[in-house]
Amino acid sequence: MASSISKRVCSTLFTFLLFAQLVCPSNAVSSSASTMEAIALLKWKSTLQNETQTSHLSSWTSLPNNRSNSYTDLNLSTNPCTWFGISCNPAGSVIRMDLTNSSLKGTLHGFIFSSFPNLAYLELSLNDLFETIPSKISYLSKLIYLDLSGNQFSEKIPLEIGLLTNPQIIYLCGNQLNGSIPKEIGHLKSLTVLDVCINFLDGSIPTSLADLRNLIYLSLFHNKLSGSIPEEIGQMKSLIVLYLHENQLEGSIPTSLGGLENLTILYLYKTHLSGSIPQEIGKLKYLKALDLSENQLHGSIPASLGNMTNLVYLALFENQLSGSIPREIGNLKNIKDIDLSENQLFGSVPASFANLRISRKPTFLERNKAPEEIGQMKSLNLHENQLEGSIPTSLGGLENLTILYLYKTHLSGSIPQEIGKLKYLKALDLSENQLHGSIPASLGNMTNLVYLALFENQLSGSIPREIGNLKNIKDIDLSENQLFGSVPASFANLSNLISLSLRENRLSGLIPQGIGDSMNLKSLELGSNLFSGFLPQNICHGGSLQNFSADNNHFTGRVPQSLKNCTSLGRLFLDGNQLIGDISKDFGVYPNLRIINLGDNNFHGKISSNWGWCPKLGTLRISGNNIIGSIPPEIENSTQLHNDPGLAPSGQHEGGLLSVSTFDGRKLYEEIIRATDGFDDMYCTGRGGHGTVYKANLPTGEIVAVKKPHQLRDDHEERFQQDQFLNEIKTLTEIRHRNIVKLHGFCSHARHSFLVYAYLERGSLASFLENEDAAKVLSWCKRLNIVKGVAHALSYLHHDCSPPIVHRDIKSSNILLDSQYEAYVSDFGTAQFLKLDSSNWTSLAGTYGFVAPELVQGKHSNDFITSLSSPTSANSSIIELKDVMDQRLPSPACQVKDKLVTVLKLAADCLNLCPQSRPTMHMISQVLSSAPQIARHS
Ligand SMILES: *[C@@H]1O[C@H](CO)[C@@H](O)[C@H](O)[C@H]1NC(C)=O
Ligand SMILES: *[C@@H]1O[C@H](CO)[C@@H](O)[C@H](O)[C@H]1NC(C)=O
Ligand SMILES: *[C@@H]1O[C@H](CO)[C@@H](O)[C@H](O)[C@H]1NC(C)=O
Ligand SMILES: *[C@@H]1O[C@H](CO)[C@@H](O)[C@H](O)[C@H]1NC(C)=O
Ligand SMILES: *[C@@H]1O[C@H](CO)[C@@H](O)[C@H](O)[C@H]1NC(C)=O
Ligand SMILES: *[C@@H]1O[C@H](CO)[C@@H](O)[C@H](O)[C@H]1NC(C)=O
Repeated sequence: MASSISKRVCSTLFTFLLFAQLVCPSNAVSSSASTMEAIALLKWKSTLQNETQTSHLSSWTSLPNNRSNSYTDLNLSTNPCTWFGISCNPAGSVIRMDLTNSSLKGTLHGFIFSSFPNLAYLELSLNDLFETIPSKISYLSKLIYLDLSGNQFSEKIPLEIGLLTNPQIIYLCGNQLNGSIPKEIGHLKSLTVLDVCINFLDGSIPTSLADLRNLIYLSLFHNKLSGSIPEEIGQMKSLIVLYLHENQLEGSIPTSLGGLENLTILYLYKTHLSGSIPQEIGKLKYLKALDLSENQLHGSIPASLGNMTNLVYLALFENQLSGSIPREIGNLKNIKDIDLSENQLFGSVPASFANLRISRKPTFLERNKAPEEIGQMKSLNLHENQLEGSIPTSLGGLENLTILYLYKTHLSGSIPQEIGKLKYLKALDLSENQLHGSIPASLGNMTNLVYLALFENQLSGSIPREIGNLKNIKDIDLSENQLFGSVPASFANLSNLISLSLRENRLSGLIPQGIGDSMNLKSLELGSNLFSGFLPQNICHGGSLQNFSADNNHFTGRVPQSLKNCTSLGRLFLDGNQLIGDISKDFGVYPNLRIINLGDNNFHGKISSNWGWCPKLGTLRISGNNIIGSIPPEIENSTQLHNDPGLAPSGQHEGGLLSVSTFDGRKLYEEIIRATDGFDDMYCTGRGGHGTVYKANLPTGEIVAVKKPHQLRDDHEERFQQDQFLNEIKTLTEIRHRNIVKLHGFCSHARHSFLVYAYLERGSLASFLENEDAAKVLSWCKRLNIVKGVAHALSYLHHDCSPPIVHRDIKSSNILLDSQYEAYVSDFGTAQFLKLDSSNWTSLAGTYGFVAPELVQGKHSNDFITSLSSPTSANSSIIELKDVMDQRLPSPACQVKDKLVTVLKLAADCLNLCPQSRPTMHMISQVLSSAPQIARHS
């Protein structure tokens, strides 16, 4: 066993070997050397973790000669040359250790480098070796090839690595090395490959690397290197590959790089580089791949790039490049992928692009395959630039193109029918331009197309029936155009469709039989057209439908049967049609449903309790139908229900500085925008779930609070937010109470919608309770007064308003305080008017009583609620006041203490498990008022 070789034996052995080297013939030296190597290997093995020893290194074992314990016998029976991963020279000395991917776990600390005088190849990559790379690695005087990549080596690269005599290849990639790259590496004149990528190296790139005149491969990518790229790098004339990408470099690209005449790959992406692209880069005539993307490069693309005729891959995306695309790019005869997207390029797409040969020669094995099967991307990405003009018809000549992205490039004109010649094209995205004219029928020839996006243009005419030939298509988006006519019957052939959007066009007629039959259909958007007839019947028969919108059309009849058990459904928009059916029978149980809008149809019936099984339902709109009964409490609690509030309510607020009745949209709008500097963060006083609140000092000297609903990317969600916005306006204009925040006015504008309230100086109650010092300011008396104010407001909403209003979101962040610490209930975005004839009226009493316990406790504690509602404490007098009190305040005086006990008792009653036993807000309000007044400042 390795461990049986004691240190003492080893050291004796070394003494012997030194002696032997002086006196013995050379073959004896070798055999002794091999013993020394075997012992060193076994010793290192013994330091590795056990699982290693039992597997890959099982052949590493000495064969002790039992008849003798002399070390000379040991040398006869221990030959490492046959061990796993070990190779020897003819003299029997180890020249190579290849333990790549051998599950080694441990360190190199126990590795006796001095024992391997002939080791030329040390390959330990893809193991689990950790801690430092020992400086004694420099003792490997014959080392040519060192590969420690893919381990966990940490700390600095030892400077001593510069003492190696003749190394040619060093791979340290994929470790956890930190510190800077030792400048001593510049001494390794014989080095041809240096790879230290994917570590945590910092500091700058040592200029001494320029001395490595034989280096052909330099890879420093994915580190934290800073500083600029040394100009001297241009002296490394042998370089073929230069990877500096993904670092924190700065400055510009040195012009000297143009002198690296043999360079074939230059990757400088994501390196924080600025300045312009030196035209000298164009001198790199052997360059095959140039990636300068994701930097801050500006200026124009040098025409000289057109001289790099070997270029296969050109990526300049995500920079600030401007100017026009040089027509010389059309000379890149070997290019396969061009990505110039996300810049500020302008001018037209050069017609010379037609010269590009976007292809590569297939290998022998690939000779019978179609280009797209060869698997290499052949793409042209110019999206997100400021180009102009039209799409050159000549692009149709790029016959091997598989990806063409020209979206968001300000292109106009029509879609050239020549595009249809791109028979290998898989993805075509021309969306968000100003394209007009009709969709060319030739697109139907692109039978490999998987993705077709033409949305947000001004395309008109009808949809060519040839689109139905795109048998591989999965995703079609033609939304937001001016397409008219009917959907071609051939669309029924699109059996691989996952997503189809025809939203916001002027399409009419019936939806052809078979649309939506694709078993994989996830999304179908037909909204805002002029469709009539029935909804597509098989829409969810594949069971994967997640999004279906058919809103704002003239659909009639019942909803498709297949919707009944469409459990994948997340969003359903059917509003604004003439659909009929019993809402309790035609819909099912939707575990994933988040938004449903059935408004403005002819549905009837009662919302069934099934709907309670839509646990994710956030928004439900059913108004504008003949639906009776009430909402089951299960959904009432979790959803926003919409009673169409109508548009601007008639003014009921008098006297407000911007009262709704005197609301001059334009003036208010401009004053608010000016007072908040266009909703600058500087004026932000709070952010809530529904919007951001700003403080605005108006020219009149008055101060108002402005709530701006959050911007939502999604159109449908935005529409619902709009409903919520109107809901708040409707609620607040119909009620008036001293403890309810005052709405002065509102603005509904395409750019900014907002609500204007009275400004309450002290902000939200939550902000007081969360802060140690502020909490002390809120004395017991102030807190009791706040409880009372909130109770009055709720009592008013529940009992004095007709129909009654349920706020549904009473919490400390929705209670605002004025300068006198008077409480105001705010945020009525989710408030709801109750129908009095509701049969579920009593069960809704559950939402009646609520007195936030955090007022007494200083924080919201679930334990507190549990203790209050647990059977043992049902009698709230058992509660020890001092146990639940906010410890940040001094003990209350006797009189205050009595009031606190009253509040706690009420709070406990409000949490009664049986809703009917809870007190109403009216009762609570009465109890709190009848108690003796307490001076506010005591
Ligand atoms: C290897 O296993 C033995 C017993 O199985 C244990 O005593 C020893 O500590 C282990 N060594 C290491 C390096 O894990
Ligand atoms: C460039 O490559 C050619 C061909 O491999 C070679 O002969 C020449 O020496 C190289 N140039 C430099 C500066 O290394
Ligand atoms: C391209 O190369 C030719 C010949 O080397 C040279 O004359 C020309 O100036 C280069 N073009 C550009 C735009 O750099
Ligand atoms: C398309 O690719 C094939 C080989 O795959 C090639 O022969 C042909 O020239 C290419 N066409 C163009 C325009 O590059
Ligand atoms: C589709 O391709 C065929 C054969 O290449 C051609 O004859 C036809 O004109 C093309 N159709 C359109 C609409 O371009
Ligand atoms: C509902 O699902 C069941 C089971 O998956 C299926 O047998 C039935 O046909 C479906 N009903 C409809 C109307 O799609």
